[in-house]
Amino acid sequence: MLDSKTKRIVLIGFRGVGKSTIGRLLAQKLGWEYISTDEEIELRENEPIGHIVSKNGWDYFRKLEAEAAERFSAYQHVIVDTGGGIVNNEDIMNGLVNSSMVIWIDADIETISHRLQNDKDRPLLSETDLDEDIKINYQRRAPVYQKYSELRFNTSNETAEEICDKIISEMR
Ligand code: S3P
Repeated sequence: MLDSKTKRIVLIGFRGVGKSTIGRLLAQKLGWEYISTDEEIELRENEPIGHIVSKNGWDYFRKLEAEAAERFSAYQHVIVDTGGGIVNNEDIMNGLVNSSMVIWIDADIETISHRLQNDKDRPLLSETDLDEDIKINYQRRAPVYQKYSELRFNTSNETAEEICDKIISEMR
């Protein structure tokens, strides 16, 4: 049973797993606000992430991401949908873990690959081939998602509706 005083839920997990779908549905079910670090960055910069990264590089994007997470850390009754790479920043993650319920939204690598083939908007992380990029970075990050999360759900096996209901029952 999780702390019933939890006022903030943070969703972490690899790109393409369905964090945004779950985040929006969960916010709707709880009557909380949905916020996304990626959307906040795009709004502030007035540009899609792909352009921000190709113009200024990943380090610049990571700086914006850390600033967004810092701003959100004071909000209550919110679902914070984070970008897949936020877990590389230990300071951010330690802050989030201390103040929020952190949930790992996961999916099988085949599901992630299938979803990302049809979504050309996300810039590749480190490799030039999409499947290689997914495989290498997923393997690198899985232990980190594990380390920071107290619950994990797999969207390859369960619907968003089922996952949200389970999260809500864990809160009570
Ligand atoms: C990233 C994931 C993206 C976005 C950026 C970097 C990553 O968010 O923050 O392209 O490092 O995995 P999603 O996880 O919402 O796709």
